[in-house]
Amino acid sequence: MKTAVFSTRSYDKALLTAANARAGHELIFLQDRLTASTASLAAGCEAVCVFVNDNVDAEVLTLLAAQGTRLVATRSTGYNQIDAAAAAGLGIEVVRVTSYSPYSVAEFAVGLLLAVNRKIARASARTRDGNFELDGLMGFDLHGKTVGVIGTGKIGTIFARIMLGFGCTVLGYDQYRNPDFEAMGGNYASSADLVHDCDVISLHCPLTDQTRHIVNAESLARAKRGAILINTSRGALVDTEAAIAALKTGQLGGLAIDVYEQESNLFFQDLSSTIIEDDVIQRLVSFHNVIVTGHQAFFTQEAIGQIMQTTIESISAFESGAELVNRVPVG
Ligand code: NAI
Repeated sequence: MKTAVFSTRSYDKALLTAANARAGHELIFLQDRLTASTASLAAGCEAVCVFVNDNVDAEVLTLLAAQGTRLVATRSTGYNQIDAAAAAGLGIEVVRVTSYSPYSVAEFAVGLLLAVNRKIARASARTRDGNFELDGLMGFDLHGKTVGVIGTGKIGTIFARIMLGFGCTVLGYDQYRNPDFEAMGGNYASSADLVHDCDVISLHCPLTDQTRHIVNAESLARAKRGAILINTSRGALVDTEAAIAALKTGQLGGLAIDVYEQESNLFFQDLSSTIIEDDVIQRLVSFHNVIVTGHQAFFTQEAIGQIMQTTIESISAFESGAELVNRVPVG
């Protein structure tokens, strides 16, 4: 099936091509992000393959539908960038990668926690510069601390299991109770209690209308002074301006983010030779107790391989009229 692959990077092209070897779909690789102004590049493509920062809103979907697109396949678990209701109204199917190595993201979240708490990036930068001082590098033992997990699904539960292995008490907050989380020793709490009691909070819920800015000025004011916040889920879960205000007063003791509310203008590009116009990200990276990475938590060999394989399988299933097991729910 003729498929326009937006936001292609070299690894997307290599791995999607390998996954497509037997299926033989006609893949058109495009470096551009999908937006209303680039949608015409998919003219004549029955399928469009997108990533997290493509804009698949009602306007773009209408343009795609008019050009004959009938399937949108996102190379991600999260699908908040796609207006699934508008797609359904236009007769466009939407599929995602429901499941791929959740260890990739959970392990990265643990890495961010260790890095920000023990100042590993700062220490490394110092030693490169010949500075072997320890002043300013003190962290705290994770053993014996209380870690909060917001969203105890696949990734959150694995993150929780690793934290239990460190000897932490783990509290969870979710709309639904996950028996695996409780069986391993996690305890559910209200969001207010979790925020109040935890030394570390890690976000693992999807971005929805209910979870947008779930971390905000009010919740940060109720948090333990000096708590560390980790976000590997979606940028808009955190009100970034409120986080900056809490970092300035020391109420927030550390912040490590792999995702950022305005990341679509920045991430997955080399902007090192340009002037970054986003003052919020520039303020964030100026804090010594903040680590920002560019949406790489999923980026392991295992996860990427599964993402590409599932994406090709979904396109093949659509072409043959088979059941779409990775269909995005509407509403
Ligand atoms: P999942 O669907 O297994 O778990 C999400 C959990 O969040 C579920 O238990 C769900 O009940 C809970 N949840 C939903 N709405 C909630 C609410 N209003 N309040 C509290 N909990 C709520 O998803 P999975 O695979 O664990 O992924 C979690 C998120 O991680 C994804 O939605 C995505 O945004 C993010 N992600 C980030 C990646 C990265 O590279 N940084 C890669 C993959 C996923």
